[in-house]
Amino acid sequence: VQPDVSTELRHCDECAIAYAAELIRAGQTVAVPTETVYGLAADARNSDAVARIYAAKGRPSFNPLIVHVADVPMAAKLAEMNDMAERLAKAFWPGPLTLVLPVRAEAGLSPLVMAGLPTVAIRCAAHPAMRALIEASGAPLAAPSANRSGAISPTRAEHVLRSLGGRIPLVLDGGQTARGIESTIASPAADHIRLLRPGPITTEMLARASGLPVVVSGSDHGIEAPGQMESHYAPSKPVRLNVLSAEREEYLIGFGAVSGDISLSEAGDLDEAAAALFAALHIADASSAERIAVAPIPMEGVGLAINDRLRRAAA
Ligand code: TXA
Ligand code: MG
Repeated sequence: VQPDVSTELRHCDECAIAYAAELIRAGQTVAVPTETVYGLAADARNSDAVARIYAAKGRPSFNPLIVHVADVPMAAKLAEMNDMAERLAKAFWPGPLTLVLPVRAEAGLSPLVMAGLPTVAIRCAAHPAMRALIEASGAPLAAPSANRSGAISPTRAEHVLRSLGGRIPLVLDGGQTARGIESTIASPAADHIRLLRPGPITTEMLARASGLPVVVSGSDHGIEAPGQMESHYAPSKPVRLNVLSAEREEYLIGFGAVSGDISLSEAGDLDEAAAALFAALHIADASSAERIAVAPIPMEGVGLAINDRLRRAAA
């Protein structure tokens, strides 16, 4: 990575997408919005390009990347889509579900993407910018969240600039992301679905669509995506959870009846809270308070994913 590359911010219209696709074809990285969080994209077949993602993020090389595709046929060229994978893709693609599947030998993906695993994580995002970039570049796009490794995920272009400015050539600005929390990661087996990372597609939704039990292996601490390290999404300040009223020097992120300095959702709506979560953490981190406190969030539906991210932010 050139340490002093100047980062361009462009509203993601057709012209910016065409320019972004040119950069991708030239082996560069581009930050692009998805409906979950902004991703840092590069051609997943090009090892130099994929290495630029790891370098810009400061990401450990053992932490594999998600590959973004346009549709099921493109996914089937890269990974073995078994019947259950087809069924889940039909139910939730395009959308915030990533499937971990056996990689095909003839996929042509850079080995850096899988980081030594026999599987690849495949996602078909719903956001028009990501979809347009895949089409315009003609490439499967490796794209982790567009933040420095271990930091809070970006839900706005400004977050990307703050984290990766000077390290990547282009950020496509699509405003605030709709879902605000990273995709659910699941691995379909013959008789169960393994949940590797909770997200917007809830356990209940996976169970209903598959007709199979959803297994979160090893209880609440055993989620197994290699990048799901305990400390992640880390603000620079200490974070205290399940707080009903703030102590002095604390910036309180509220929810429902707990109002706080800012609220994830005054109405107590979990989808609204997920969409607001990372932006609130960014604001709390930039505030003058010394510490961050967060109101209790119910452990149901997408609340599971919100609590997962909060636990890591506090770890
Ligand atoms: O919503 C999202 O998924 C966003 C947007 C940009 O698509 N991407 C994202 O990527 O969250 P990232 O790299 O921040 O998180 C991907 C997670 C990591 O924890 C990684 O370890 C895991 O996916 N992962 C990737 N390949 C895997 C594999 N073959 N098996 C298990 N986990 C895998
Ligand atoms: Mg990430």
